[in-house]
Amino acid sequence: MSHQTAIAATGLTKRFKTGRTHIEVLKNVDFDARHGDVTMVMGPSGSGKSTLVACLSGLLKPDQGGVTAMGHDLWSYRPGKIDRFRLDHCGFIFQGFNLFSSLNALDQVALILKYKGLSRAEARRRAEIALDEVGLTHRLRQRPSEMSGGEKQRVAIARALAKEPQLLFADEPTSALDGETGQVIVKLLQRAAKQHGAAVICVTHDPRLEAYADRVIHIEDGRILSDARTAHAAPVGSANPVPAQPALIEA
Ligand SMILES: Nc1ncnc2c1ncn2[C@@H]1O[C@H](COP(=O)(O)OP(=O)(O)OP(=O)(O)O)[C@@H](O)[C@H]1O
Ligand SMILES: [Mg+2]
Repeated sequence: MSHQTAIAATGLTKRFKTGRTHIEVLKNVDFDARHGDVTMVMGPSGSGKSTLVACLSGLLKPDQGGVTAMGHDLWSYRPGKIDRFRLDHCGFIFQGFNLFSSLNALDQVALILKYKGLSRAEARRRAEIALDEVGLTHRLRQRPSEMSGGEKQRVAIARALAKEPQLLFADEPTSALDGETGQVIVKLLQRAAKQHGAAVICVTHDPRLEAYADRVIHIEDGRILSDARTAHAAPVGSANPVPAQPALIEA
């Protein structure tokens, strides 16, 4: 498994204007994430986690700083090219699910695969497998309005994983799930990293998820406070990560 840098950002600054005041939500943030790693971003509500993920993934242009994703200077691309980049390389699991209200679970997942160029039959086959993995085999034909919050979240997760993206962004992926289902999901995220070499960037409040992280980054008030690899994380360049009890060590 390669542990090369998948995405790196330097000097990210983002301000929002509300009324007459500007608030600086990201303050000169440097960030990187590697293929094969689950990188968790933790921090209090309002600390800038979702804003960071949006800047890294081409959804929100930073005021200053740059992002190199899969070797490309992301923010030098025109908007259409950024969309294409996201389609080709990124998976998203976001707060709010972003599901299409008119599509059933199977079509939510299959549609993205068809955009990627798979045949209708192959897209449906892969979509069924992905939905089975998140425990939704019995919900294939249901639309978002007919699903629980946790079921919708799992459809969004299946949709992101089915693409086998090299960059996987997850923002509170387990927030609507019970502990057991949450664990299934984090294991799937881990598999995306370990088997497909994805760089998984996962925002969470949930300390239980730290056990699945290779690296934990704490952010507070728009600044990175700490950045540590976990003891069970594979050292850079090692072939076989050995799972063990998580304990934080300085990166
Ligand atoms: N479009 C916007 N306009 C103005 N302020 C914004 C906007 N988006 C975010 N903010 C502010 O920026 C700060 C950081 O927001 P962000 O969504 O990144 O926080 P977060 O760390 O993801 O929090 P949470 O854990 O609650 O999701 C917040 O104080 C928020 O109110
Ligand atoms: Mg957020």
